[in-house]
Amino acid sequence: MTDPALEFLCEALSNYPGKRLLIADEHLDSTLLLSLKAMENLTLLSNRFDVHQAATANNIPCIFNDMDLTETDTTYDVIAYRVSKEKAIVHHVINQSAQHLNPKGCLLMCGFKNEGIKTYISKAEQYFGCKADVSKGERQLKLAELHPVQLDEPLDDRDYQAIIVIGEQRQHELLSKPGQYGWNKIDKGSEQLISAFAEHVEQTEPPSTLLDLGCGYGYLSVMAWALGVKHIVATDNNAAALASCRQNIQRHNIDAEVIADDCAGGIHHQYDAVLCNPPFHKGFDTEKDLTEKFLRSARNHLKNDGVAFVVVNQFIPVETLAPAFFKSTELVFRDKSFKVFKLSS
Ligand SMILES: C[S@@+](CC[C@H](N)C(=O)[O-])C[C@H]1O[C@@H](n2cnc3c(N)ncnc32)[C@H](O)[C@@H]1O
Repeated sequence: MTDPALEFLCEALSNYPGKRLLIADEHLDSTLLLSLKAMENLTLLSNRFDVHQAATANNIPCIFNDMDLTETDTTYDVIAYRVSKEKAIVHHVINQSAQHLNPKGCLLMCGFKNEGIKTYISKAEQYFGCKADVSKGERQLKLAELHPVQLDEPLDDRDYQAIIVIGEQRQHELLSKPGQYGWNKIDKGSEQLISAFAEHVEQTEPPSTLLDLGCGYGYLSVMAWALGVKHIVATDNNAAALASCRQNIQRHNIDAEVIADDCAGGIHHQYDAVLCNPPFHKGFDTEKDLTEKFLRSARNHLKNDGVAFVVVNQFIPVETLAPAFFKSTELVFRDKSFKVFKLSS
């Protein structure tokens, strides 16, 4: 199902002349993307690799980065933005857009009431020194047109670009940044996965090669390295995740590659082990489809005698989905929140 806010925004955007930039994150689905093919003078900027891949395949110019408008080295007549889920990104995009508009250009910003659109509009008004022209859509949807007049103090974006230390485990500091889900904490499920993997390593020996599928800032990679894995490939769809994972790899001198990809679709190697804490929702994909996609990828990237460790929320039915891909599905940990599975082919 297409996101009504983004659809509303794109409809409005089609009526604006001149150079257009659409900032797109996970809300953009393939149906809406196809409808953008007809829009002239349009560039996309996305922090999601799958959006970038699909746009490029449809000949829509698209920049893939961590919401960094400076890389576009141009200015626009209109920048359109459907607000993201995370406040730091929204503030960062509002701040940046003011710097990348032509003198008479405008920011079009859209979102629902329960996403805080009203507050975002008044903050942007304050920063731009202007009064927004606001129109309403169904289900308390708001679309604002803002023209910068006199810029005030930028909004607090929690120093969006900065990569900072967020914790430490097994004597290894962990670095991360905003722009990814749960960026400033160690995921409890991933901690359980590492405990199970550590037990496995104690009983056997550290695998030589490992794929960290959906690596985030690289927690699983750093821990696997601390446990003696020799070479790691870490991959994710999100630009902020990839940037922070690269920093962790560098900080700890890990023998690793960090690759932007959609569920490792472009990685054609097999590994002794795969570690994965899959996302359980993306835009409008169902949990089941997404879990299956990650399980299939884990299997395809595993050597025949390899082993995969996967952690999921307790309501995700890996025990019924995994046997389609793996010969053995072993539940190695369970509590009221998470389940960890050891899967082998
Ligand atoms: C629950 S987080 C786990 C992050 C990290 N591995 C950890 O354990 O802390 C899921 C990760 O999957 C990534 N992801 C979501 N969709 C993806 C896709 N299609 N391909 C690759 N990674 C994806 C997200 O960006 C996020 O970093």
